Amino acid sequence: MRIEPFAAEHFPGILELLEEEQWTTLTADPQATLRSLSAPGVVSLVAVEEGRVVGFAQTLTDGVIQAYLCRLLVARPHRGRGAGTKLVQSSLSASGAQRIDLLAAEGTEAFYGSFPHSHAWSGYRLACGSA
Ligand SMILES: CC(C)(COP(=O)(O)OP(=O)(O)OC[C@H]1O[C@@H](n2cnc3c(N)ncnc32)[C@H](O)[C@@H]1OP(=O)(O)O)[C@@H](O)C(=O)NCCC(=O)NCCS
Repeated sequence: MRIEPFAAEHFPGILELLEEEQWTTLTADPQATLRSLSAPGVVSLVAVEEGRVVGFAQTLTDGVIQAYLCRLLVARPHRGRGAGTKLVQSSLSASGAQRIDLLAAEGTEAFYGSFPHSHAWSGYRLACGSA
């Protein structure tokens, strides 16, 4: 399993993962999702195994101090084999930042807790319009 920078050729594989997981905000307008993955200040990485995309991570970064991990997904059959850990570690180094903040989805506390971290704040996701 390799971690690679996102390229357009990975997009069909990412879309498949998003559809399987029913992340409908991202499947509703695939072209918008494609723009979001390659927007300025975004580091998008994919986990590839035998030519197939098995996971991806998307991080927003200022490239110096602060980054936000905004999406992380590993295909169900590939979970528990280290892909998520590699994606987070690679995002930390590729972001150029000193730290990454994130909103942890329910059930992911043990996963994120396995990284060196502090846990001083609670998070909010504020909706802009219909998002
Ligand atoms: C969270 C997620 C990315 C983890 O990816 P993964 O490839 O399975 O993670 P890893 O194999 O690197 O797991 C690393 C460690 O975290 C733990 N872990 C991983 N997922 C876990 C979970 N859902 N609950 C509890 N522990 C978990 C494992 O115990 C593992 O430790 P081990 O190696 O000692 O067994 C994956 O489960 C996923 O895509 N979930 C659905 C989407 C999601 O919730 N994304 C996060 C949004 S905030």
